[in-house]
Amino acid sequence: MASRGNWNSKVGFILAASGSAVGLGNIWRFPYTTGKNGGALFVLVYLISVIVIALPVLLAEVSLGRFSGKNPVGAFKELRPKGGWKYLGYLGVITGVMILSYYAVIAGWTVGYFVKAVTGKFNQLDSAASAQIFGGFVSDWKLQLLLLAIFIFLTVYVVSKGVSGGIERFSMILMPMLFGILILLLIRSVTLPNAAAGLEFYLKPNFDALTPKVILEAMGQAFFSLSLGMGTMITYGSYVSKGENLPSATGWIAFFDTFIAVMAGFIIFPAIFSVGMDPAGGPGLVFNILPVIFSKIPGGIIFGPLFFALLSIAALTSTISLLEVPVAYFIDEKKWHRRTAAYIVGFVTLLFGVPSALSQGGLEWFSKLPYVNMSFLDLWDLIWGNLSLSIGAFFVAIFVGWIWKSSNALMEITKGTENFKFAFFWMIAVKFISPALILVILLSKIL
Ligand code: PHE
Repeated sequence: MASRGNWNSKVGFILAASGSAVGLGNIWRFPYTTGKNGGALFVLVYLISVIVIALPVLLAEVSLGRFSGKNPVGAFKELRPKGGWKYLGYLGVITGVMILSYYAVIAGWTVGYFVKAVTGKFNQLDSAASAQIFGGFVSDWKLQLLLLAIFIFLTVYVVSKGVSGGIERFSMILMPMLFGILILLLIRSVTLPNAAAGLEFYLKPNFDALTPKVILEAMGQAFFSLSLGMGTMITYGSYVSKGENLPSATGWIAFFDTFIAVMAGFIIFPAIFSVGMDPAGGPGLVFNILPVIFSKIPGGIIFGPLFFALLSIAALTSTISLLEVPVAYFIDEKKWHRRTAAYIVGFVTLLFGVPSALSQGGLEWFSKLPYVNMSFLDLWDLIWGNLSLSIGAFFVAIFVGWIWKSSNALMEITKGTENFKFAFFWMIAVKFISPALILVILLSKIL
């Protein structure tokens, strides 16, 4: 399907899919959710979820995408024209818009922080001054709306240019650079005074804290971070050519993604404990502490701006993949032009993003919603970034394991490789383990 576009190489696909996976989910969401859920135990459950629950679903999504060559709605329709499966595709399309709506708010923060860093606002900052800057920044509602609009526009612009021309090129350069700065930050953070307390929080699990909520959030984080449960990886898989080795590609993607999240934790927690901040500080956690770390690094004036620039681009390669799902749907199923689809969906997303942009202090009501007692952004993240992705992943596993059938999926998977050593494990995981665990975890939280 040349008209839809293809990745140029296997490395291209790994980079683009890692570009989707690695983003604010690793560097913003993982640390603050870990902090909120008590630290090390959450990390442990997260790691187990990645391997046992999420990785099998990743392979399932990519193989479904490559086999059908379609967006999620098209993929389910093609394999099962009758029955309700296509609604699972629609759920993915809607989830993409909804996640993008608040994700772009945080992505806007990275742009704002880049500007602050460049203009020297972060020189010699202590934690109180940093918290003050952050508080003023997020409650400036005009600025928040502007940054949201800028980020959505950037995303729309890249997506309107098409798959390999836009997405791949961005991912190619970014990752190694981001990785380099993360290493630097990590070295500084773990050598700060009292870093040990942070490491203990991050690494020494307290099993008494095991609750359904911790498990649900850890599993949700695994799906969120690997861009699963809404068809991103079906869509990205649809651009992979047949000769490529899917098990090895997906293994690398999961490895990169998890590695970077774990690194982010090693950066954030030692520093948080070193300056005596609260690890459960919520969505602002990372933005409060990073400027403090940069003030303590020689050359922080240069590394600070560079870091926020790279983080903006890492966020962009993820927002692109969020927008790509609804856009691919409108191109394939409704025959829209790519440009039209990108601009229209982008505009709708912007409207949905407004309450989130105002929810971190900009407007009182959105910052603490009645009944649920959380901010609009937190609520949206819970509904779409956690529950919807978990439900989506559950049905993808059921679909691939039982409806399309794992034996058919395996035929697709082994097209690029003769020996898939984990074929048996994958089959068991996708048919039984993954869906059963997701169901139990969802139900245990609800009941
Ligand atoms: N995985 C991305 C991140 O960690 C977010 C994302 C979720 C992207 C779902 C696409 C789909 O930042």
